[in-house]
Amino acid sequence: MNASSQARAPVLTIDGPSGAGKGAVSSRVARALGWNVLDSGAVYRSVALAALQQGLSARDEAGLVELCRDLPLAFEAGEQGIEVILDGRPLGDALRAEQVSVMSSQVAAIPAVREALLDLQRSFQAEPGLVADGRDMGTVVFPDAEVKIFLDASVTERARRRYQQLKQKGQLKEQGEDVTFDRLFRDLEERDRRDRERAVSPTIPADDAVVVDSTRMTLDEVVNRVEQLVRQGLCPPD
Ligand code: C5P
Repeated sequence: MNASSQARAPVLTIDGPSGAGKGAVSSRVARALGWNVLDSGAVYRSVALAALQQGLSARDEAGLVELCRDLPLAFEAGEQGIEVILDGRPLGDALRAEQVSVMSSQVAAIPAVREALLDLQRSFQAEPGLVADGRDMGTVVFPDAEVKIFLDASVTERARRRYQQLKQKGQLKEQGEDVTFDRLFRDLEERDRRDRERAVSPTIPADDAVVVDSTRMTLDEVVNRVEQLVRQGLCPPD
């Protein structure tokens, strides 16, 4: 991709806390628009998974930065949504394990790791457009995005959705331990706190973002609202 195509391709950013539905909304809206997708949470999760596989600790800043430099990462639109490919291998559900979730938020709090992943994330901006989801898409990675959305929901509702999702997949056990609603709730609260209070790229809405609270909305309702905001953002009324 060259600099001129970067300047032209419009961007929709969808930021917000874990479990607010960003992934589902992004992939639905991207499919409807025919746009590319960047799941930046998956970028941090891939770093975390690769670090765990290599036995790197969340404190090994130099080792983690090195890992980020040549992360052989790709996204493919599959039957079940976006498939994340690391080094030619689909990562599947391994990326969603609680251990990876916790490690990803720890590595994401390291400024040098975030810096090392900026170019990789920006390289996804391409014609005809990009839907980028994460925590700092509208504030740091794509500050000039045409449309910025901050998708929120209560912690209870997000833990409930995650619990249902794991139950449906028969994944309420991890490393022999039960994954309970209470554990998911506590992990989410802890992760929210770490993501919101960190010094670099905290999870906060951009000044020009529209906040959408999905606590009492269905997925269809959120998708409709986002599509409406995209239409307004790309073709503002006179
Ligand atoms: O969105 P998801 O839960 O997959 O993200 C995993 C972790 O990656 C988050 O807890 C957050 O700490 C981090 N993250 C981030 N910035 C982003 C996307 C994700 O710090 N843009």
